[in-house]
Amino acid sequence: MASIAIIGTGYVGLTTGACFSHLGHDVICADVDADKIARLQAGEVPIVEKGLDRLVDEGIRSGKLRFVVGAANAAKDCEFHYLCVPTPQAADGAADLSYLEAAAAEIASVLPNNSVVVNKSTVPVGSTRVVARVLGRSDVAVVSNPEFLREGTAVSDFLQPDRVVIGSRDQEAAIRVAALYSRIAAPIMVTDPVSAETIKYASNAFLASKLSFVNAIATLCEAVGADVNDVVLGMGYDTRIGREFLRPGPGWGGSCFPKDTKALARIAEDAGYDFHFLDEVLRVNEDQFDRTAKKVIDSVDPSLNGHVAVLGLTFKAGTDDLRDSPSIEVLKRVVAAGIPVTAYDPAVLPRENRLSQMYPELDIELATDPYAAADGAASLAILTEWDEFAWLDFDKLAEVMRGRNIVDARNLLDPTIPRRRGFNYRGVGR
Ligand code: UDX
Ligand code: UDX
Repeated sequence: MASIAIIGTGYVGLTTGACFSHLGHDVICADVDADKIARLQAGEVPIVEKGLDRLVDEGIRSGKLRFVVGAANAAKDCEFHYLCVPTPQAADGAADLSYLEAAAAEIASVLPNNSVVVNKSTVPVGSTRVVARVLGRSDVAVVSNPEFLREGTAVSDFLQPDRVVIGSRDQEAAIRVAALYSRIAAPIMVTDPVSAETIKYASNAFLASKLSFVNAIATLCEAVGADVNDVVLGMGYDTRIGREFLRPGPGWGGSCFPKDTKALARIAEDAGYDFHFLDEVLRVNEDQFDRTAKKVIDSVDPSLNGHVAVLGLTFKAGTDDLRDSPSIEVLKRVVAAGIPVTAYDPAVLPRENRLSQMYPELDIELATDPYAAADGAASLAILTEWDEFAWLDFDKLAEVMRGRNIVDARNLLDPTIPRRRGFNYRGVGR
């Protein structure tokens, strides 16, 4: 088994470290955030990821998962060094590599001989060379090993991946990194670093494109009177299209798709190719936010003098992540139109102030449950597909709400159930 340093213990780093320790490796996770490290040392997992707390607890008990403050304190004793620090989107759309370069600079002098540094963070094409230059260590190989983790299923995505991609021109280093995954039953492909980095961006941008296409088809379905659920079902039987990732919604978001799609457009532009297709994919997504917001705004009858009850703030169900959430993009537009909003999300409770910290300009009320949010409401809108919203008690909603309009931006409900209780139901694409 190997010794692995994980630099950056966020959604990606903590999942990577916990899973590698579960596979039997000795892992030290490092972060700049001392408070986060202290909580992790106490076994407290700060993010919602199914199964992660069990793996962290298992790793701490076995002594195979440790936490330290500062990248150098982890790197000095390890053979492999996974860079999992943020690569946020800079103002010009390109990825900001300052954290990556800072982390590389911090570990350069303490790396044991013959170490391997691994880029797990999503980094622009060509970044492996950037890290190698900052390290300035001819005895240290730099390898690309992009992550394909979805939030909410990150642990299973790591332990049962569709594939492991390794990018390195140093065959021996590639084999050493591949050996870390020897207990995982999945295809491991080795290619050059630029191709590995391109696979990551191309995969995310393709998935975002598929979603923009589905959302555009949903708009067409509304215009021609088709049912998008049947349309995508019929499409999905074609194995070249596949059944996955065909659910229309309020638009797509999260900490990766928007950032990575814009970054790929910039990477192409810098390389001399005008990837205008991606500009259209992004524009269709902005249109979907506008279209969904208009449905919510139109659902509020001003004569009722009520607010809209919004169910769902996170960027998708199963996570507590609010970064680039489609729900927030829609609510910015609804609030700007002067509509009062009371929202409920099971992963965003009123006592926390994550929402106001991340979106200080978003002036909405937070409720402790769906019916409290719906009390006195002129309408109700579902923006995130949490299971509990599929089982709402419409008799109870009819008692507390002033209006009878429902906007279901995730097609979560069976429309016959609210309609049977006198509600007006608007979905997406049907
Ligand atoms: C991030 C990027 O968003 C993603 O594109 C990339 O693939 C991996 O890193 P994520 O894990 O979601 O993904 O980031 P985040 O949850 O923000 O965690 C980053 C962690 O790195 C934080 O704990 C932060 O404190 C830490 N960090 C940040 C460092 O340890 N060093 C730094 O210099 C900067
Ligand atoms: C994504 C990629 O799936 C993952 O491979 C990559 O490593 C990181 O980025 P993530 O951002 O966690 O993962 O979420 P994902 O499940 O892909 O959803 C992204 C957005 O698309 C969310 O806003 C989600 O609600 C939306 N979505 C997804 C749809 O609107 N319809 C779908 O059918 C699927």
